[in-house]
Amino acid sequence: MSNNENIHVSDTAFVTCAFRRLNESLSQDYYAKLWYNDKAELILKDYLSKVSTEEVQTHCIRNRYFLEQLKRLITEHKIEVLINFGAGFSMYPFLLEQNITHIEIDKPEVVDYKKLQVDQWISENKLPQRHINFIGVDFSTDYRDDLIVKINALKGNKSCFILLEGVLFFLNRSESEKLFEVFSTIQQSKDYIGSVSYTNEVHKTKAYKRLLKYANKELDDASDNGLQTVENSFYENLESYQLIDHQDYFSCSKLFQNTPECEATHILNEHFYILQKD
Ligand SMILES: C[S@@+](CC[C@H](N)C(=O)[O-])C[C@H]1O[C@@H](n2cnc3c(N)ncnc32)[C@H](O)[C@@H]1O
Repeated sequence: MSNNENIHVSDTAFVTCAFRRLNESLSQDYYAKLWYNDKAELILKDYLSKVSTEEVQTHCIRNRYFLEQLKRLITEHKIEVLINFGAGFSMYPFLLEQNITHIEIDKPEVVDYKKLQVDQWISENKLPQRHINFIGVDFSTDYRDDLIVKINALKGNKSCFILLEGVLFFLNRSESEKLFEVFSTIQQSKDYIGSVSYTNEVHKTKAYKRLLKYANKELDDASDNGLQTVENSFYENLESYQLIDHQDYFSCSKLFQNTPECEATHILNEHFYILQKD
């Protein structure tokens, strides 16, 4: 992990985890606390005070929404493989049943570090036994063909759910389109995508203006022309996919009995989309 003063995109994985630890009953991520780290705590406190204090709940709700969706689809025998793009330190493999194949893709330094930690915690019985297939890839590089071969070798013909949570903000539009093209290539009919992004509406909020200021000043290595928002029509018009669910922080707050604390303009309202392949 980075040791210098600036924040790297990979540090955001630590911070996202820390948010989930701060309201465990809402996130239901009982393992996020394992990732406690001094640098992330400093970034977290600074970020909460400079951008939005509601970020703890928004991240817990996001994790909870996808956790509940994944649990339901697994119970209904609709998915056998979870492929998490930009997985960071997500702990879904340990929160879901044992019989799922997990593929986690992130920057090489993130997956290398996660593998080391997770193996150690499993050997110390701090985590239940699970196997995660890690693939180190930078989505800003020419990774397509190689990644497709690797995923297909692991996935075979099994049904899958692709998760893209907390990643699109850091990428630019052509990198995002390339990812969705890869998804379409590896997925079969009835497979799912879960994706998270901000809509253009967020531009009007005070919290987003603070986020941009923060990211432009503190974040070192997001993609050129990154920090993107994504309109609903991107998902509605995605070729070969149907948008089957669309929620946001406010709608999910009702589902999970969370009362938003800040005024709407001080909340970064992320949208959550579930798509199914035709
Ligand atoms: C905010 S974290 C979210 C992590 C996780 N999905 C979660 O919700 O807890 C963003 C993740 O996206 C990854 N990421 C961002 N840009 C990337 C890129 N160009 N290539 C690969 N991974 C990237 C980061 O390394 C980081 O783990």
